[in-house]
Amino acid sequence: MFKLSSKYLIATFAFLVVLVTYKHTQAQTTGSEAPIYKNGMVVCANPDAAKIGLEVLKKGGNAVDAAVAVQFALAVTFPEAGNIGGGGFMVFRSKSGKTATLDFREKAPAKAFQDMFLDAAGNVIPDKSLATHQASGVPGSVAGMFEAHSKYGKLKWAELVQPAIELAKNGFRVSKRAASELNWAAKYFKQLNPGKSYLLKEGGWKEGDLLVQEDLAKTLELIRDKGRAGFYEGAVADKIVAEMQSGNGFISKEDLKNYQAVWRNPLIGNYKGYKIIAMPPPSSGGVALLQLLQSVEKYPLHRWGFNSDSTIQLVVEAERRVYADRSKYLGDPDFFKVPVDTLLNPAYNAARMSNFSWAAATPSANIAPGNLPGYESDQTTHYSIVDAEGNAVAITTTLNDSYGSKIFVNGAGFLLNNEMDDFSSKPGVPNMFGLVGGKANSIQPNKRMLSSMTPTIVEKDGKLFMVVGTPGGSTIITSVFQTILNVIEFDQNMQQAVDSKRFHHQWLPDEVTIERGGMDAETRNKLKQKGYKIVDRGPSGRVDAILVTPTGYQGGADPRGDDDKEGY
Ligand code: GLY
Repeated sequence: MFKLSSKYLIATFAFLVVLVTYKHTQAQTTGSEAPIYKNGMVVCANPDAAKIGLEVLKKGGNAVDAAVAVQFALAVTFPEAGNIGGGGFMVFRSKSGKTATLDFREKAPAKAFQDMFLDAAGNVIPDKSLATHQASGVPGSVAGMFEAHSKYGKLKWAELVQPAIELAKNGFRVSKRAASELNWAAKYFKQLNPGKSYLLKEGGWKEGDLLVQEDLAKTLELIRDKGRAGFYEGAVADKIVAEMQSGNGFISKEDLKNYQAVWRNPLIGNYKGYKIIAMPPPSSGGVALLQLLQSVEKYPLHRWGFNSDSTIQLVVEAERRVYADRSKYLGDPDFFKVPVDTLLNPAYNAARMSNFSWAAATPSANIAPGNLPGYESDQTTHYSIVDAEGNAVAITTTLNDSYGSKIFVNGAGFLLNNEMDDFSSKPGVPNMFGLVGGKANSIQPNKRMLSSMTPTIVEKDGKLFMVVGTPGGSTIITSVFQTILNVIEFDQNMQQAVDSKRFHHQWLPDEVTIERGGMDAETRNKLKQKGYKIVDRGPSGRVDAILVTPTGYQGGADPRGDDDKEGY
């Protein structure tokens, strides 16, 4: 029906805020375009939202308060991915080093079923999991923000939602990039929401136009006044269900009322003495990131250097093996026994790398998901912040594709996700990101679809070191992995680590994709001679990250988007 995947890389967003109590307030520069802020910092996908987060920090809000304000602001100013109709994950580290993660991933509606995206012959119906009312999972973002705020918030909820209401009611000026994105999406909005005019502008959008969202302002007012009930019950819930009924969608009032965000135990790993605090399933991101780090730890990456042939070869071979495991063993842990301990056993990952040869690429056809002895497959499946006290938050959230399903809730002014495509519609058939899966990530009622979102916090010597995350579908994991290596192994500052060209391998398809200009001709030739298929591509991911340096906080805002770092 529609070719939707070309814009997927901006479908998710990440943002970071850092606030720490220091006496000095001026920014210093390191000479490498990486200013140091002594007090606090916000890095996110949109300057209006970043400023709102910073204001919350300046008036005494904590990291979670700032996250709530930024989340709702991005739902207004960054409709590609900022959302109230989607979901996400939060990784939290308190000032004293206690850790927690919050899962507010969307869930399959109760009426969902395994073969819902297959035709009578058992074939996947193109785009049904992407551009229909059935493509949406039950949204989790409002519940996630409410839950995070209930547990950790300091300022009043209403105070945190209000700035987004102002932005929606009074409008904001669209950037050149945002105008171009909206104009790209206009034909889909028209086709999928016939007769309605949300996010459309006669003659198209141009830089500096004012985008006002009155319906969204009203929805946000209900959320401000009633908390999660303002979204999951009452007028907004009625509108969501009416929207579903108008298009044969499945989300019901019960699905909405029953939706709960879930606190989960963080995954904790180690890389050369750095402690990695990561998101557990239903994200595959944390498991895969820790497997990747284990797979390369014993090698002298620092000596080989950034994007050298040896570095790329090793990293690609690790990625190939880890993504093969992802396809079989990762899913919603409430539905499927995910063998996390085995996958994170260093001996297991060392064994997985044992058949890697420097002489030639290992064909993906020769790599299957690892054989986990004694394992029985039971059928059961990124913004970041540190506040004045030193609490840290990393959140990744998404609508999946750019602007989600591109279907909006009539009268409520927000877009619905198409996260159902993150399930495996049919074993072995790739989804929008080319990812394959099977039983672990099959569709079941109320199950959470597997994600690649990788919000991550890194500690060094017991202290906060880095907060990092990115959008990018299947490339999220490898982008976070390479950003961490860029700092720890290749001595790049935070901005350089974010700017650096990235490459990616995900087992299938068996190819290395690399951002144009990321590899010199000699390296390319060496790798080609060893059998690597190398495919150039456009920008990959939008990493927004903060590094703790001895003199203060250094942000990396991704130049691939409108991403912005605000500090004081
Ligand atoms: N929707 C992309 C992900 O969660 O991985």
